[in-house]
Amino acid sequence: MSSEARGPGARSPAPSSTLAAEAIFKSFIDSDGSELPILKGVDLEVRAGEVVAIVGASGAGKSTLLHLLGGLDRPTAGEVYLDGRRLSQLDDQQLAEARNRRIGFVFQFHHLLREFSALENIMMPLLIGGLKRMQAQARAEALLQAVGLEQRSGHKPPQLSGGERQRVAVARALANDPLVLLADEPSGNLDNQTAEGLHELFFRLRDERRFAVVLVTHNRELARRADRILWLHDGRLNPVSLSMTEHEAVP
Ligand SMILES: Nc1ncnc2c1ncn2[C@@H]1O[C@H](COP(=O)(O)OP(=O)(O)OP(=O)(O)O)[C@@H](O)[C@H]1O
Ligand SMILES: [Mg+2]
Repeated sequence: MSSEARGPGARSPAPSSTLAAEAIFKSFIDSDGSELPILKGVDLEVRAGEVVAIVGASGAGKSTLLHLLGGLDRPTAGEVYLDGRRLSQLDDQQLAEARNRRIGFVFQFHHLLREFSALENIMMPLLIGGLKRMQAQARAEALLQAVGLEQRSGHKPPQLSGGERQRVAVARALANDPLVLLADEPSGNLDNQTAEGLHELFFRLRDERRFAVVLVTHNRELARRADRILWLHDGRLNPVSLSMTEHEAVP
């Protein structure tokens, strides 16, 4: 929605919010040409260092929302603010730049480039961001160390375990020191113990680097560790209390 289209009563996000969504609507066009509304007025504010978990049934629109928050897709209506800037006012090139420099993504499937080593995968967003090769390598090495994989720097994704691949994906997501980390079921494919290790890593890095986190997860333990849990239901976000999660209210 353009700034002109925002009504006189439209409020601005709190200055302290690193990431904000205001009245986000998203519809897709079904195969028969009819409109399929998925998000119907989502509001969200996430501060630096805060972890917000989003839970909800399959098909509720969780991944759709993350894509909009990360500028991978544009809402049908509403606005996403990244560090106070409206994403709708960025052209595709500026949006790509914002994604590269300010947003880190971790998906359920690692999406690493299989022909490149762990180190090179982490270097990629740094080189795209304009860093010189030597500096990119030094920074990628430090990140590999931060996720405990300095011994695996030359391994290509097929030569890494599932948990190791996700740790490389986390290191890659953090390469440009983003303001926001968006994670879509990051431990969905991992066994319990490996998932637990990845969650530890997430929270440790959040404590150290103070990025804002929006985390989509079906993992109850992970959701319960978040600062806030929101339930995406019928196209809107609703607060969920920890006691509700104990009573199986969370899908
Ligand atoms: N490009 C698209 N075109 C049409 N429909 C889409 C498109 N992307 C998503 N949808 C539909 O939007 C709905 C929400 O999809 P989304 O992937 O956001 O769900 P989700 O909450 O992430 O589910 P899951 O937990 O299974 O990952 C689904 O019904 C899906 O079929
Ligand atoms: Mg999904």
